[in-house]
Amino acid sequence: MTNKKGMSTRLTNYGDEGFSLFLRKAFIKGMGYTDDALSRPVIGIANTFSGYNACHGNVNDLVESVKRGVMLAGGLPVDFPTISLHESFAHPTSMYLRNLMALDTEEMIRAQPMDAVVLIGGCDKTVPAQLMAAASAGIPAIQLVTGPMLVGSHRGTRVGACTDCRRFWAAYRAGEVDDQEIIEVNDQLVPTVGTCSVMGTASTMACLAEAMGMMLPGSAAAPAVTADRRRIAELTGTEAVRIAAEKVTPALIMTPQAFENAMRVLLALGGSTNAVVHLAAIAGRLGFDLDLEAFDRLGRDTPVLVDLKPSGQHYMEDLHRAGGLAALLRPIRHLLHEDAMTINGRTLGENIDATPEIIDQQVVRPHDNPIYPQGGIAVLRGNLAPNGAIIKQSAAHPELMQHTGRAVVFSSMDDLANRIDDPELDVAPDDVLVLQNIGPKGAPGMPEAGYLPIPKKLASRGVKDMVRISDGRMSGTAAGTVVLHVSPEAAAGGPLALVRNGDLIRLDTRARELTLLVDDAELERRRQSLSPALVTQEALGYRRLFLEEILQAEEGCDFRFSRPPMTQSVPR
Ligand code: FES
Ligand code: MG
Repeated sequence: MTNKKGMSTRLTNYGDEGFSLFLRKAFIKGMGYTDDALSRPVIGIANTFSGYNACHGNVNDLVESVKRGVMLAGGLPVDFPTISLHESFAHPTSMYLRNLMALDTEEMIRAQPMDAVVLIGGCDKTVPAQLMAAASAGIPAIQLVTGPMLVGSHRGTRVGACTDCRRFWAAYRAGEVDDQEIIEVNDQLVPTVGTCSVMGTASTMACLAEAMGMMLPGSAAAPAVTADRRRIAELTGTEAVRIAAEKVTPALIMTPQAFENAMRVLLALGGSTNAVVHLAAIAGRLGFDLDLEAFDRLGRDTPVLVDLKPSGQHYMEDLHRAGGLAALLRPIRHLLHEDAMTINGRTLGENIDATPEIIDQQVVRPHDNPIYPQGGIAVLRGNLAPNGAIIKQSAAHPELMQHTGRAVVFSSMDDLANRIDDPELDVAPDDVLVLQNIGPKGAPGMPEAGYLPIPKKLASRGVKDMVRISDGRMSGTAAGTVVLHVSPEAAAGGPLALVRNGDLIRLDTRARELTLLVDDAELERRRQSLSPALVTQEALGYRRLFLEEILQAEEGCDFRFSRPPMTQSVPR
């Protein structure tokens, strides 16, 4: 029995290599394979289909197409299941489970024989989890996404998840949409399988995976239900056989230059704030520490050019028609490392050259006519966020970007839910809403509760936006003047825990400052009276592991034990 390739890679150890291979072949032959099939390069396909996950509703079709591509190139495709995460079906929050999916995927790649792996992700946390896993497992890997859903139609206007979900719900809360209409629109917001149709986290991570070179060029934006998506899947399978032969490992693609390219693209997309956390986590797996200040500097000369909701007007299918991600890469190519190698064996610059020039300047603006003159995300510091906080400035209200207001503090999500709509709540439109204890440890899992609702009594008076501050996250599909990822978090003893009702808080986005206008002596006095940090000993199982090992936002909320020693920072 030969031990060259195919099923022989990385033997399970029964103390006898020959017997291990003999046993393995005996079992796999139970599926009807021939020796010829088993002598081919094995391409694993991470299958994330789940009946709970409409964002991955086309995965089985994609698996079929990937398999065709693998076989056309002479390989043997073998799909295997991993955890699938959907945003709405991942209690308490999908971020709590992202690292579990990363561990699952990493260990199943290690456990089973495969020469390369195709990772089929889509919904928000899945692509980050898979790229984290691929970086750690270290075998050749290529990303494929399920692709965005199509837009729906409601009473003559286009609607899509989930920026319009929020818009309609806010209008319903304000009494502008009635019971009948809210039921009607509920049927149209998710009209097909696929990921959210705006520039939320899923679309953002798809674009970043392509920008980093881990996914085929042109593959970020094709909708889930199109023939283009199936062809991309077939080509991905074919490419997987080549990277297996050439041993193109993730570390050869996800270089510091590739991460810098991804950060530029994130800024120019007006992409999801969640991507900052995910990029920190993926980079951390390769020993690169995310430097938030340097990231902010990139933002100063990177304009937002993509006119997609929530920062702009259009949807992912429009971006696909406008040429996909290449339509953005072209006008910002002078800001990119064009010599970065990508998964198809060509450089980013060569891939850009191979795409048509400008197709539609409505969806992706020219460099001199941006949606927003700077990058979509700015990094804030100050005594309220010593280790940083972020704001999606492209989706914030210009009048609130420089603002000082009185704090109205909520100590937890429950406290918020109980009091935000209380007619007696002491709150005015120029106050600052503060939510504590929704950070990585606090909630736990850093839920997307940072987009605090406008108190009902103000919403019904037409107030649409207020400054909101928390140690949590916000959905990539949301918009508003929302400060997120305040670090250290309140539950880890960060200064956010010290804010009291009536304190003055100053947000100065231009100066990148977030300041609690309370003197140090008073803050120290409050610190003394803080109740002790969370007791984790009572938690069991995964929750215990999570609470003990979870890192803060700037370190990607990864588990401490999954990060090797840091060797350099990105971007440089
Ligand atoms: Fe899956 Fe939005 S809920 S991408
Ligand atoms: Mg989301």
